[in-house]
Amino acid sequence: MSVRARGASPVAMIHTYGCQQNVADSEKIKGQLEQMGFSFTDAAEEADLILFNTCAIREHAEDRVFGNIGALKNIKRRHPSLLVALCGCMMEQPHVAERIQKSFPFVNLVFGTHAIHRLPGLLYDTLVNGKRVFDHQPEDESKIVEGVPVRRDGTVKAWVTIMYGCNNFCSYCVVPYVRGRERSREPEAILKEFEGLVRAGYKDITLLGQNVNSYGKSLANPVSFAELLHRLDQVPGDYRIRFMTSHPKDATKELFDVMAQGKHISHHLHLPCQSGNDRVLKEMNRHYDRERYLSLIRYAKKQMPDLSITSDIIVGFPGETYEEFQDTISLIREVGFTSLFTFIFSPRKGTRAEKMEDPVPAQEKSQWFQELCAAQEQVAAERCASMVGRTERVLVEERNAKTGLLSGRTGGNIIVDFPGPDSAVGTFAQVKITQARNWILKGELAQQFAEASV
Ligand code: 5AD
Ligand code: SF4
Repeated sequence: MSVRARGASPVAMIHTYGCQQNVADSEKIKGQLEQMGFSFTDAAEEADLILFNTCAIREHAEDRVFGNIGALKNIKRRHPSLLVALCGCMMEQPHVAERIQKSFPFVNLVFGTHAIHRLPGLLYDTLVNGKRVFDHQPEDESKIVEGVPVRRDGTVKAWVTIMYGCNNFCSYCVVPYVRGRERSREPEAILKEFEGLVRAGYKDITLLGQNVNSYGKSLANPVSFAELLHRLDQVPGDYRIRFMTSHPKDATKELFDVMAQGKHISHHLHLPCQSGNDRVLKEMNRHYDRERYLSLIRYAKKQMPDLSITSDIIVGFPGETYEEFQDTISLIREVGFTSLFTFIFSPRKGTRAEKMEDPVPAQEKSQWFQELCAAQEQVAAERCASMVGRTERVLVEERNAKTGLLSGRTGGNIIVDFPGPDSAVGTFAQVKITQARNWILKGELAQQFAEASV
């Protein structure tokens, strides 16, 4: 088997499922493949190597991956030299790797989230031995490998992973099992990567971690996330910084002070509450209650009146009653979120919640979910309407082919469409908001540039 069988230089198709961390991991996979001489395609038929970077967060995500792996069988039949590789969170679960081994014999290589930096060696083994490789090599979980090449997907937005893993064991969540214990990169390494991105002209840089608020605790010389953010904000240049995800149990006033005083830090806070009910939060093992969450929000809003807050919510956690669910509805009205990522609870193998009694039927949960979405649409529409008349600093991302308008995002991550020249794409523009349509804003280029606010 040879990846060069069908052309001079091998071609890879990488498909990424799930969260931004997976997107960032895939950029490392592509960086290494590029160094090995690969070019890239979106068309499976053209590829010598197809790699799926998978997500295990919910059953639906896993089902999609299994469906798409199954569909590769026919392509492999037509192109027997095609190499099929699977990696990411799903592959860290022994029952999944077993199922691949048994039911998908055309898969050549399987490796987990801890082995990304070993991709060249794993590919080499697969090719040279001509055997299927299922990587099980035990990893030193405390280890962080720096210097893996990165091939970034965009030229305007970039991701910087500041920490790996999670220690929280929220009772519904598979992440701590598949990504291991929390470990932070050294601040110097982060700063170097960050400075390089600013120099290269990136305008929107997102710091990534499962719980950025506990960044730095495990370092030999501990540094808080607020300190790291402050240091990065000192890098001169025309850019904005975002970060995700924050955990309410570890968020500090100091962090909000740094955000409020920062020159480049977006006034955007993604602070997942998951539920508005104290009993459910306790069962979720979240280590905060509704009042702690609301008091954080109150403080953050006091420091940043223009703050845009987004969140993740789980509907239908095992044992949740309709009355308890109503506490979530009232919380979203009280906070006034800009947008929400909403999920119906999905049992994950090996988690505590998987074994909890779950008497509410799926159909009922689905009704609650609709109720939540309707409430949030109203909240988002009100929030967007309140922005009409303001001038916002917008990072212009593209010209929308359908409307012919430029489209960009405010510091609070709200989409704004407005007429303007192509030359504005990839730059910041001051846009006066003239209209709100549900959760999308319309505007016009401002004549008078207001005081810059990211
Ligand atoms: N079921 C439903 N949603 C989940 N999430 C994590 N695990 C589950 C699960 N088992 C959601 C949480 C988390 C987001 C990334 O995914 O809301 O914040
Ligand atoms: Fe999962 Fe909780 Fe860790 Fe987030 S903080 S990754 S929800 S265990």
